[in-house]
Amino acid sequence: MNLLAGLEEFDPGSLKRSELVEVEGVPLLDTTAANQELLRSFKAQPDDLLICTYPKAGTTWVQEIVDMLQHRGDKQKCARAPMYERIPFIDLFPIKPIPSGLEMAEAMPSPRTLKSHLPVQLLPPSFWEQNCKIIYVARNVKDNMVSYFHFHRMNQGMPEPGNWDQFLENFLIGRITWGSWFDHVRGWWEAKDRHPILYLFYEDMKEDPAREIKKIAQFLGLELPNPLLKEIIEHTKFETMKDNPMANYCTLPAFIMDHNLSPFMRKGTVGDWKEHLTVAQSEKIDDLCSQLLAGSGLDFRMEL
Ligand code: A3P
Repeated sequence: MNLLAGLEEFDPGSLKRSELVEVEGVPLLDTTAANQELLRSFKAQPDDLLICTYPKAGTTWVQEIVDMLQHRGDKQKCARAPMYERIPFIDLFPIKPIPSGLEMAEAMPSPRTLKSHLPVQLLPPSFWEQNCKIIYVARNVKDNMVSYFHFHRMNQGMPEPGNWDQFLENFLIGRITWGSWFDHVRGWWEAKDRHPILYLFYEDMKEDPAREIKKIAQFLGLELPNPLLKEIIEHTKFETMKDNPMANYCTLPAFIMDHNLSPFMRKGTVGDWKEHLTVAQSEKIDDLCSQLLAGSGLDFRMEL
């Protein structure tokens, strides 16, 4: 399915930034909220693999690793289409004539790999009923929120971010697309004890990609000989993915994602928050982490 076919006739001026609409108390893009019933009735298949994250936690990175593993390191196969076509994003209902992630998923042969940013309680129930494997990636809140702010600036379909201070305030109270970061990472963390969920951390992937790629291969039951592992590390490192048009979202027109405002592949580091947060803001977030993650066993590294 070619997502961009027909976009030539689309009037860029008619693209509006989304409003937030709550579903069960979780703010979502207005188009996602409007399609909630359709999304809930999605029929997952037992051999579907879901990659789920809070936005900007390293979704694309894990998607490229998984695609490479599934295609035994065949880079040409992984270059068959941009990431948003290779792995449909089921909670996205973009401007027409771009098909929705659900339409793309339904048109795809099994076994399918799918993407979602939904919090655990809003995931279509069929994923649980079918006992689908899920890979979840979490990233420390400070880097996650910085990345999300810049993404709001460059993605013209996201809600208006306001300035950094306003964005930060909204983010911390969960008045943000896909809801509270704290609830999201905690909800999925607790779900992993009841379902086949591989819970990964962005910081661990930066620290030791080989170790984390091995975990993914093992979870998927795929062989990973050393030469393949090396290929995957090289192909999925930040610098390579930044230059890969099939992974860096540069194939989308600038009226959707404006990489001049902030590139999708922006920095790819741990600790960039130090360039953005004041000491007071950073301490406030540390306090919130202590309160809202208390007793969960979740522990994030803010630097390496
Ligand atoms: P920054 O904005 O901090 O650079 P997602 O794919 O979930 O939208 O996450 C995007 C974030 O992951 C961006 O973070 C992006 O640069 C980073 N990223 C993407 N590919 C990466 C890679 N191969 N290695 C490290 N970080 C990567």
